[in-house]
Amino acid sequence: MKKIRDGLLWITIFITGLMMMKRCPRGDSALQLGFYGTSCPNLETIVANRMQDAINGDSRVAASITRLFFHDCFVQGCDASVLLDDTSTFTGEKGAVPNVNSLRGFDVIDAIKAQIEAACPAVVSCADIIALASRDAVSLSGGPNWQVPLGRRDSRTASLQLANSVLPSPFFNVSVLLSNFAAQGLTARDLVALSGAHTFGQARCRFFRARLYNDTGNGDPDPTLNRYYRLVLQDGCPQQGEGGDDNLAMLDPYTPTTFDNRYFVNLRILRGLLPSDQTLYSSTDSSTTQQVVLSYVNDNSLFFSDFVTAMLKMGSINPLTGDQGEIRLNCRKIN
Ligand code: HEM
Ligand SMILES: *[C@@H]1O[C@H](CO)[C@@H](O)[C@H](O)[C@H]1NC(C)=O
Ligand SMILES: *[C@@H]1O[C@H](CO)[C@@H](O)[C@H](O)[C@H]1NC(C)=O
Repeated sequence: MKKIRDGLLWITIFITGLMMMKRCPRGDSALQLGFYGTSCPNLETIVANRMQDAINGDSRVAASITRLFFHDCFVQGCDASVLLDDTSTFTGEKGAVPNVNSLRGFDVIDAIKAQIEAACPAVVSCADIIALASRDAVSLSGGPNWQVPLGRRDSRTASLQLANSVLPSPFFNVSVLLSNFAAQGLTARDLVALSGAHTFGQARCRFFRARLYNDTGNGDPDPTLNRYYRLVLQDGCPQQGEGGDDNLAMLDPYTPTTFDNRYFVNLRILRGLLPSDQTLYSSTDSSTTQQVVLSYVNDNSLFFSDFVTAMLKMGSINPLTGDQGEIRLNCRKIN
């Protein structure tokens, strides 16, 4: 009996070891600072300059790139799987429900990649470019700056199915959001801090319409939406069946292109946009997240430092490292 138990134990240890070799375990990744220090010394300058250009041309790009990083990391880890285009024989993640007609900034990543390939051919992964570009998106918009551990490699696969199942819906309640983030190794604090990325960028009417007209199903709007703000939003987002599904509203109408803690102030005054935003402050199951929201309302630098911590955690979800994956030459297709 004991022999069998020992045998099972060793098999378990062996399989766990194999799994850890396949992908680095969460939180203890092999990513490192200065990874391209000698192989591509101008990398970070190039990314920052191209991001500044892109933001100068369209300030929303900062938000779009930050979201791209989130949608990359949650699906198979931060491996640039989100960037792969569909072909006749390959289906990528761009057509997934949360991504289609919604994710933006692919052309910006292409422009950065082109300049990096000219400077240091076949050395820098697309996954690392997304990580650096989203750091710059935040810091160039007035948010915190931080150093990004690098060494991610690019996947040779993508998963439409996974993208459709793991990315959170804006209609999730707090309990479900918490378990969705926990499945990625992220805490309640990480959930609230990362949701603070909704301090910039825009969202479509289809995602917040229910709050404006008929949240409860008995004809009433969402009571956790300020009624004056509701009238403003109704202007750009007509009732179901009257069109306007893709009309845009600012996620943070007060400082729409600045990365700051205004998003949390908005939640406190019932001016969150998405259901998943306001629920972090207002719902019956939000006692934990509400405390975190209030702490960020009161302390912008606490928000910034928690946001950095959470971005580092999110950025180290299951990276491919070493000789896993590849360094794509074109971010849109495998070599
Ligand atoms: C907590 C769960 C989250 C949900 C349910 C959620 C949902 C959404 C939705 C529905 C939109 C609008 C999409 C559209 O209208 O096409 C959006 C936009 C955005 N999200 Fe999230 N999100 C979440 C977390 C995050 C995280 C963790 C980040 C980044 C760290 C992020 C960054 C953004 C940004 C910057 C935008 C605006 C993008 C743009 O203007 O192009 N979101 N999100
Ligand atoms: C949250 O949503 C889940 C799934 O729809 C549901 O089972 C649960 O009861 C909800 N929790 C609360 C507190 O509303
Ligand atoms: C509100 O929603 C309920 C349930 O979905 C629906 O039966 C009703 O017709 C809606 N009322 C209005 C005014 O849209």
